[in-house]
Amino acid sequence: MQISSILDKFPRVRLMASPTPIQRLERLEQALGDRRREVAIWVKRDDLMGLGGGGNKLRKLEFLLAQARSEGCDTVIAIGGVQSNFARLTAAACARSGLACELVLAQMVPRIDDLYHKNGNVLLDNLFGARLHVLSTGDDPKQFAESRADEIAASGGRAFIATLGGSTPVGCLGYVDCAFEIAAQSAEMDIAFDRIVIPNGSGGTHAGLAAGMIVTGSSASRVRAHSVVSSRESTMSATADKVNAVLELLSVEKRVEPDELNVSGGQLGDGYGIPTAAMVDAVRTVARSEGLLLDPVYSGKAFAGLLSDIEDGAIPPRSNVLFVMTGGTPALYAYADVFAH
Ligand SMILES: Cc1ncc(COP(=O)(O)O)c(C=O)c1O
Repeated sequence: MQISSILDKFPRVRLMASPTPIQRLERLEQALGDRRREVAIWVKRDDLMGLGGGGNKLRKLEFLLAQARSEGCDTVIAIGGVQSNFARLTAAACARSGLACELVLAQMVPRIDDLYHKNGNVLLDNLFGARLHVLSTGDDPKQFAESRADEIAASGGRAFIATLGGSTPVGCLGYVDCAFEIAAQSAEMDIAFDRIVIPNGSGGTHAGLAAGMIVTGSSASRVRAHSVVSSRESTMSATADKVNAVLELLSVEKRVEPDELNVSGGQLGDGYGIPTAAMVDAVRTVARSEGLLLDPVYSGKAFAGLLSDIEDGAIPPRSNVLFVMTGGTPALYAYADVFAH
C-alpha cells in the first residue's frame, strides 16, 4: 500500500496545484556569510498555490470544504483575527467553490488604525465577496458564529463553522499530505532534510506535518516550530493533543507526548501579531537577498527563529534545513508602518 493512500478515504476538493516547489536560498546563504555555518537553507513554497494569494490554509481547506459539502452546507463561517490569512483564503476558496462565506473576525491584536482594519487581508476578504462580522474586544467569536449558523438555518440554509485556523483533525490532513509530498521530493532530490521549520499559530500545520512524519516512519521532532501565539509549554501541549487526534483519525496507533515535539517560544516577543526587531530583520534580509516575501506575523518570526537556531547551533552546522513558507504576504500591507524605514 502506498503511504499517501491513507488519505484516500477522506473527501477533498482540489484548490491548489501540488507539489509546491522546493528551492534553495543560495543568495541568502551567501549574504549570511560565516553566520550560515555551512547550513543549506531550502524553502518549500506553500505560498505559491494559485488561489487567493496562496498559503498553508489552502491545504486545510481542501479537506474542510469537502467536509462542508458532504454535510450538505451552502455557507462556510470562518473564525479568525482581523488580519486572518485563514479567513482570506476561506473567502477565496468559497468564491471558487460556489459557497457563501461569512467571516467572524475577532480583535486578537491591539490595533485600531485603518491600515490594520481596512488594508491587507481585510481588503481581499471584501474583494472575494465574503460577509464580514468584525467583533468588539471581548466578544466570543465561537458563540457569534454559532448564533449566525442558527440564523442561517432558520432561513433554510446550512452553515459549516470553520474554527480558528482550520486546525481540526480533518483540516490537519492537508499537512499530513504535505509531509508525504516532502518525503517524495526529498527522495527525488536525494536530499535528506534534517529539520523542517514552520511557524505554529493554531497548531494545525505542525500537527499535520508531525503526524505525517510519524506515518512515513520519521520522527515528529524533525519538525521545528516557532510559536507565534502562545508560550512554548502551552504550544507543545495543545499541539500534541492535535497530533494525537490526527493519528486517531488516520487509525494509526502511535501517540506523542508534548515533550516529543520540537518547539521554540523564543520568537513570540510581546505576543501574537506584535512585531519584533528580529522579525523585521528576517523579512528584510530574505526580501533583499532572494526577492521572497515573508509575512510579519508568522513566517517572518519563524524565519527569525531559523536564523537564530543556525547561529546558536540548535541547527547543527552542515545540516539541510527546509523552511515551509506558509504564506501571509498580504498582511505586510497592514504592517506597512513597521517596514517604512
Ligand atoms: C501565513 C501563516 N503561516 C502560518 C500559520 C500557522 O499555521 P497554524 O495555525 O496551522 O499553526 C498561519 C495561521 O494562520 C498563517 O496564516
